[in-house]
Amino acid sequence: MYISSKDFSKHIGEEVAIKGWLYNKRSSGPIVFLEIRDGFSWTQAVAAKASISAEVWAEIEKATQESAIEINGKVAKHPKKENVFELQVTDLKIIQLAENYPIALKDHGPDFLMDNRHLWLRSKRQWAILRLRDAIKSAFYSYLHQENFINVDSPIFTPNACEGATTLFKIPYFDLGDAYLSQSGQLYIEAAIASVGRCYDFGPVFRAEKSKTKRHLTEFWMMDAEAAFVEHEQNLQIQENLIRFIVRWCLEHCQEELTLLERNIENLRKVDAPFKRYTYTEAIEKLHQLGSDIKFGEDLGNDDEGLLTKDSDVPVFIHKWPKSIKPFYMKRDPENAGLVLNDDLIATENGGEIIGGSQREDDFNLLSEKIQAEGLIGEEYEWYRDLRRYGSVPHSGFGVGLERVVRWISGTEHIRECIPFPRTIARLRP
Ligand code: 4AD
Repeated sequence: MYISSKDFSKHIGEEVAIKGWLYNKRSSGPIVFLEIRDGFSWTQAVAAKASISAEVWAEIEKATQESAIEINGKVAKHPKKENVFELQVTDLKIIQLAENYPIALKDHGPDFLMDNRHLWLRSKRQWAILRLRDAIKSAFYSYLHQENFINVDSPIFTPNACEGATTLFKIPYFDLGDAYLSQSGQLYIEAAIASVGRCYDFGPVFRAEKSKTKRHLTEFWMMDAEAAFVEHEQNLQIQENLIRFIVRWCLEHCQEELTLLERNIENLRKVDAPFKRYTYTEAIEKLHQLGSDIKFGEDLGNDDEGLLTKDSDVPVFIHKWPKSIKPFYMKRDPENAGLVLNDDLIATENGGEIIGGSQREDDFNLLSEKIQAEGLIGEEYEWYRDLRRYGSVPHSGFGVGLERVVRWISGTEHIRECIPFPRTIARLRP
């Protein structure tokens, strides 16, 4: 009977078989310790020369790192560790004998590891990040459905910009001129809420970002959510509840992964409290007090975000930014025409910005003025202006960068480890 080593606790004392890969092998005279990964879990198999045949012992000696193998044995409790189980080997077959594996179990430089990303994914840390990423996606889906959002997919080929023309990827599109890879599905799901009330999309988006930071990818996964009849205050509440839900979900479902990642779990637990809020204006004042020379009207840099969150156990909203540095679709603040009703959510522990959201301009004339003022090609936004012609309502939404959230919750330094095959300004392969 083939089982996964993650289910060993249910089979103590039984003869079982597992299939997987040899991660590591250590010998101590007539005993060999094999570290096996079967994809679902990691386990130790112990082979004693005295209790197996000479042929099986020879197979064990032959097996190389990353060889695919099949092992039979008896499940036993680990002699020293509580709740840990191991396999006492009775038989081992090599399914494929791996060639000399390029990634040794020692430190390699990041470029070498990224060049071997297709193999590096098998390491413990990458395994944990892949699983955590999957859990975070499940948490998104669960929370959003619980709050009556449904999934509506948005296109990737688009004729216009959502987030400014400077980061667009352009591609020739048959006889129809140029198409651009989507920077965010927001404009399309704004159309869909007039049909279904609340919806979200979740897929890859593209930014021709020239920035070489630890937080920027050129292809990343964005979850855009949009809701009719939701205004600024409620929009912030939905974002806050979503993030708390995701963190709780990971603490509940990803204990093994978070332990492997050596994540400070206590810090994650502290996120379960009301988030802090500063208006942009307050944030600038606070930054000046903290010694920053940022000027009103400038975007916040990584250092500014770090200063604003360094003493906080919970993520911090910076809301109501100057209109001049934000996209055309954001709603003007009725109390101050120079500001918009938007927010950025900054994560703790140097996680940086994880969400950008806003109430949308629902007034036909104000929106049209903005489209014109920004020099956007009017006809490409005609369908979007239709949404303000026919049954326009107050509405809001936000976009979460999946890899930013994975980076924060996993405690990973560089975002390139938070997506299986990263694309950055300097990397297209493998
Ligand atoms: O703040 P952004 O640009 O917002 C939008 O695109 C809106 N249209 C979303 C919406 O309201 N539906 O991006 C949203 C989030 C950021 O907060 C960040 O988490 C992530 O997307 N992000 C990136 N992640 C990785 N690499 C990049 N180059 C990113 N740019 C943005």
